Amino acid sequence: MNMALFDRLSTVQADLLVVFVPSEGDFSESTAWVDENANGQVSQLRETGVFKAGVAQTLLLPGVTQDFAQAVLLVGIGKEVQLSDMNARKVMAAVAAQIKGLPFASVAVASAGLVLKSRSQSDVLALVAQWLNEGFYNFLGFKKDDAEKATKVTSLLLEGTDEAALAIGTATASGSAFARQLGNLPGNVCTPSYLASKAQQLGEEYGIGVELLDETKMDELGMHCLLSVGRGSDQPSYLIVMNYRGGEEGDAPHVLLGKGITFDTGGISLKPGPKMDEMKYDMCGAASVFGTMKTICELKPKLNFTAVIAAAENMPSSRATKPGDIVKTMSGQTVEILNTDAEGRLVLCDALTYIECFKPKSVVDIATLTGACVVALGSVNSGMYANNDALATELKVASQTAADKIWQMPLDEEYQQQLDSNFADIANIGGPEAGSVTAACFLSRFTESYPWAHLDIAGTAWTGGAAKGASGRPVALLTRYLLGKVS
Ligand code: BES
Ligand code: MN
Ligand code: ZN
Repeated sequence: MNMALFDRLSTVQADLLVVFVPSEGDFSESTAWVDENANGQVSQLRETGVFKAGVAQTLLLPGVTQDFAQAVLLVGIGKEVQLSDMNARKVMAAVAAQIKGLPFASVAVASAGLVLKSRSQSDVLALVAQWLNEGFYNFLGFKKDDAEKATKVTSLLLEGTDEAALAIGTATASGSAFARQLGNLPGNVCTPSYLASKAQQLGEEYGIGVELLDETKMDELGMHCLLSVGRGSDQPSYLIVMNYRGGEEGDAPHVLLGKGITFDTGGISLKPGPKMDEMKYDMCGAASVFGTMKTICELKPKLNFTAVIAAAENMPSSRATKPGDIVKTMSGQTVEILNTDAEGRLVLCDALTYIECFKPKSVVDIATLTGACVVALGSVNSGMYANNDALATELKVASQTAADKIWQMPLDEEYQQQLDSNFADIANIGGPEAGSVTAACFLSRFTESYPWAHLDIAGTAWTGGAAKGASGRPVALLTRYLLGKVS
């Protein structure tokens, strides 16, 4: 990628030039340069109100000057000199949507014309690169006219010289696209075995170590709680381990663990029919871990990172676990499964115990764990829980830099008694109150030997409604968190 500053705009070889236009006040250098070369057309369009330059409004000007591009895309950014993250995201989504509909292969974006509230220009560059590239994602392969929808852009040139920031943004978008693709795949394609094959593929592509623990191996290890979830399914469960080793040999890794329920029917505690299709997204925690692994493999930072995926399909059948069944976890604690739909914590708890073998520096699990978290925080913030204040702070800082919001939730010991059972050490549900908190409390019983945080992404991992689809969150947050570990 050529990082030429756009003060030499006339030397930029691009089919399309994108410039940002405020609805009031002075133009940025690049926009002013375009205005001059286009005989004041940009100023005129704004003054006459033909193009008011409101947030995310766009106007294509073909042939204003043949010297530097075939066409110029004017993009409104509104009247605020400093954009909010929310508006900047809208602007970049609009730019990507416009570009996707055009036949141009090379696009130059005058990104220095964008200033975001409380952000350095290098962080803005990373976010712009990420959001633009994310805008090019399409879910392809299942509709007849899919081929035409793929972006034609082969070269995207951003105005800015910070190559490290650009690399972070681009790699984050590639990881988030991977996560979205896995999330969007239907449950009859994306099974636990499919996730295992994707891990092996990543292993071959990037030379990382991959280990698959099958049901026999997990049985030997005593992971009966994890295995109880997949018992009703014909699809075998897997514990998937991927080791990225960019740091010192023998240095303990940071671990990310993803919930990989490739379809959650609820099991014998069957979910209601409406919207049950959305439970194909119940592996989005796993998908975000896969996506982060891809991003990290592309960026090659100096750190040791282990990714673990607990993959199973939650189905009812005559072999399925029943409400009231008691299972023994790998930790030795017994669990009374009062509701087979609270299965995420059941696969995660054994994975959390297994992870002790890495003597991890830190563990973060990511899970579409509870509907209660959606009620509490909606789709804006992921719920964050931690047994360690330093880790919680690091996650908040990473979240801020990545514009990938989290909100810390409580883990007070008073909530723990909601998990008391008359028949086993722990019940797998904590009653109707504070459902996201009691799910986190359940996990906390298995994480006492290391700094641990839990991200409940039930509300943030996918978008409902017309724009239905996986969001790729929180790949950006996890990437920034891990990059913060490079000494
Ligand atoms: N995968 C669901 C959580 C979920 C619900 C994610 C809605 C996204 C949207 C999880 O396995 C589940 O079913 N949780 C139950 C727990 C309850 C039985 C204690 C829930 O939230 O209803
Ligand atoms: Mn469930
Ligand atoms: Zn689930």
